[in-house]
Amino acid sequence: MKKIRLGVLVSGRGSNLQAIIDAIERGQIPAEIAIVISNKSDAYALQRAQKHNIPTVVIDHKAFASRKDFEQALIDELDRHRVDLVCLAGFMRILSPYFVEHYKNRIMNIHPALLPVAKGLYGEHVHKAVLESGAKFSGCTVHFVTEDVDGGPIIIQRVVPVKDDDTVESLAERVLAEEHRAYPEAIRLFAEGKLEIVGRRVKIK
Ligand code: GAR
Repeated sequence: MKKIRLGVLVSGRGSNLQAIIDAIERGQIPAEIAIVISNKSDAYALQRAQKHNIPTVVIDHKAFASRKDFEQALIDELDRHRVDLVCLAGFMRILSPYFVEHYKNRIMNIHPALLPVAKGLYGEHVHKAVLESGAKFSGCTVHFVTEDVDGGPIIIQRVVPVKDDDTVESLAERVLAEEHRAYPEAIRLFAEGKLEIVGRRVKIK
């Protein structure tokens, strides 16, 4: 099967990037990571990529006069590496319709709750909102990115229990373990041509 080319966008720790790298190295996804782009020069994700000889580049949003200029720089880099699928993996910038349109139906994101829960929130704010809601379950969602932030068609969700004594940290850790299963699985399905977007729904063929 032909390998697809991934561009992974990161801002921090990069544990989801690591899960994707590991799944590719185990031969579980017919893909290769063509480029890892970080908007933060100190993101640990960059070191993870470099350890596996994956090309990296820092594109600092603060160096650009406008969001459009920043996103054009991202697009130029991704296009230069002939990327088939853009994976947001803890990328903490919202992408405008300009970027989303360029890679229409070819951008995925992972959210650390069961969307539409905590839509528009990120990181620990998500887990705080879940704990405050009193919900008995949380989980993670891999979805296609559209102009509606965190509102695109859902590909995979994995569920975890919320325990009575959970803290933001303990819940985040339980969810993260499922993220590391869900994201490689969603990318595999895409790479194998098994995802079909029908309106708001993603059919798995
Ligand atoms: C992950 O939990 C991811 O779901 C979350 O940031 C973390 C990044 O961790 N993303 C969001 O909250 C986006 N709304 P990582 O850098 O170790 O992959």
